Amino acid sequence: MSWYLEVAIEAAQEGGCVLMEEFARPADISYKGDADLVTQADRRSEQIVVERLRREFPEHAIVAEEGGGSESKSPFRWYVDPLDGTTNFAHHFPAFAISIGLEEAGELIAGVIYNPANGELFTAERGQGACLNYKPIHVSQTERLAVSLLGTGFPTHKRTENPNIHYYWQFTLASHGVRRVGAAALDLCMVACGRLDGFWEFGLKSWDTAAGTLLVREAGGRVTDFSGKPFMPGERVCLASNGLIHEEMRNLAAKIAEGAFDREPLPKVSL
Ligand code: IPD
Ligand code: CA
Ligand code: CA
Repeated sequence: MSWYLEVAIEAAQEGGCVLMEEFARPADISYKGDADLVTQADRRSEQIVVERLRREFPEHAIVAEEGGGSESKSPFRWYVDPLDGTTNFAHHFPAFAISIGLEEAGELIAGVIYNPANGELFTAERGQGACLNYKPIHVSQTERLAVSLLGTGFPTHKRTENPNIHYYWQFTLASHGVRRVGAAALDLCMVACGRLDGFWEFGLKSWDTAAGTLLVREAGGRVTDFSGKPFMPGERVCLASNGLIHEEMRNLAAKIAEGAFDREPLPKVSL
């Protein structure tokens, strides 16, 4: 295991201790937007993770969600989400994680996603595969969208500009169902370890997807946008899958975008 990954794992575990300490007391919430929460846990976790990375790699750039990062000319850039799933956390819904990804000259090379509530530690290094608690993981073998289980998410900012509810509807009808966990980093882990067959979301940020993108790819899956172009953290549309249902997901997304289902009448409710 590289020194980068070792440090990232330790930083995620240190952040995880802080999150569980905070989880044991009433959430101290403030707002970045009308439904975009931030808690003391986000800030404390970011501080401890960023401090650790900075101490070990003072030259590297760090992009961290709550603003604690710093730019540099180094080809190495860390992406830190100190608490992915803040809304869950604030409601004491135990689905949240710390996500730490590392890029070198524009290539993702290491990623860690740690869920301190259940102790699941997802790790990946470029060319070395992906692991859950140090055991290799692989994406699912599901070959058809019709028998797949999917995930998606809805942003907490600019909610009225997000088209996802239309996609959610059609993908639900086309599959075994769509789960909405509320933590994009964990959604990507679920694809990497085969619990979900596919995932998509609009408007994610680089810190949400850097580690998870590498995890899915190293577990044998595919991550692109809806046009099929390889996804890079920070891009607007993220489509991750086991690879086998990727084209079916893309085709359905294209039909939704064309408005193919727009004139379908609302079904009548009979109780
Ligand atoms: C959010 C979560 C959520 C996703 C949102 C993200 P945060 O991150 O990943 O699942 O739907 O788009 O902003 O704010 O909890 O770090
Ligand atoms: Ca996030
Ligand atoms: Ca966050």
